[in-house]
Amino acid sequence: MREQVREQLLGQARACAELGSPMYAELLARAADDPGGIVAEVLGERTEIGFVLGMLGTVHRIVLEGRASDLAAHYPTAGGTKDPLDAWPAFRDVLVEHAAEVSAGLADPPQTNEVGRAAPLVGGLLTVVAATGLPVRLLEIGASAGLNLRADRFRILHERGGYGPSSSPHPPPVNGRAPLDSPDSPVVLPDAWRGALPPSVPLTVVERRGCDLAPLDPASPEARLRLLSYVWPDQTARVERLRAAFEVAARVPATVVRAGAAEFLDGLAPAPGAVTVVWHSSMQPYMSEDEAALVVRHVENAGAAATGDSPIAYLTFEARDGSRLESVQVVALRTWPDGNRRVLGEGPSHGLPITWF
Ligand SMILES: C[S@@+](CC[C@H](N)C(=O)[O-])C[C@H]1O[C@@H](n2cnc3c(N)ncnc32)[C@H](O)[C@@H]1O
Repeated sequence: MREQVREQLLGQARACAELGSPMYAELLARAADDPGGIVAEVLGERTEIGFVLGMLGTVHRIVLEGRASDLAAHYPTAGGTKDPLDAWPAFRDVLVEHAAEVSAGLADPPQTNEVGRAAPLVGGLLTVVAATGLPVRLLEIGASAGLNLRADRFRILHERGGYGPSSSPHPPPVNGRAPLDSPDSPVVLPDAWRGALPPSVPLTVVERRGCDLAPLDPASPEARLRLLSYVWPDQTARVERLRAAFEVAARVPATVVRAGAAEFLDGLAPAPGAVTVVWHSSMQPYMSEDEAALVVRHVENAGAAATGDSPIAYLTFEARDGSRLESVQVVALRTWPDGNRRVLGEGPSHGLPITWF
């Protein structure tokens, strides 16, 4: 196995350990020491960002489709009850049996839509609304299935309070699902905010629009399977959040068009009577340097035309060095016309919990 591939496997193993997936940490450590060479064969010459996650996601998909029963017995997401830390021999067998399919799956960049990232995004949004007092026009690049374009409809909790739709003064049960006819949100993010509590202000979203190179329809079974396959199988709370967010998406319309980020933001302009918020989370490393620079230029151009009645905000949840995949990300906010630039908080890349500064 090439040393570079081995380093990627071990680096991703460390990230999985830090982000609460002992199962993937163990599988990747075993893959890095694969004596039979099947991992090297499957991964081939690939070097693009996220290819290790592509291998894991493709195998998970095979499991969720019921095509790998021995491995499924170790996958909690497939109802498996055997120890996830003992999955390696069965995982290796799936690589051998489905080598061509897994190799082909690497060409597809991993596509998550992590509902936990609503915690950093909504905290930042409340900061913007507290400062402007205006309704929000929300534009997201790399929106995937657009689940977080509905983030204002999720319930996000802090030990001293929280945010979100609720019919009662008390938060709904953690991990509980509110009935569909209740104003409570089916998505509840417990212990999502720590440190300072974000401003408590009414939030009205008047437009929800995003783009993605490969937009997913959250109502489609195929798209749901794709998103579920990129969740780490021993993280069942993430699966629950995803399923609950599909329910919210069915009730709250949002548009995600097929377009690259820079193309989508080309011609961006402020809108009178609303604050235009451009946000993105965990997508910057997938853009080329040129496209990332163009995105900033489009937002800055719109910022130059912003007024007190038509402000612009640029809210991101990405690594400090935005071009890298890292297990800790920061919530950064730039606003116009005031020209302010701030880091508001930080947390693990899946978004929970966020510590506000
Ligand atoms: C890791 S996912 C994160 C999705 C979502 N932002 C979230 O936080 O859950 C990255 C997403 O960015 C999209 N993407 C990658 N490069 C892109 C680009 N240049 N323009 C638009 N979308 C892009 C991918 O298709 C994918 O849906």
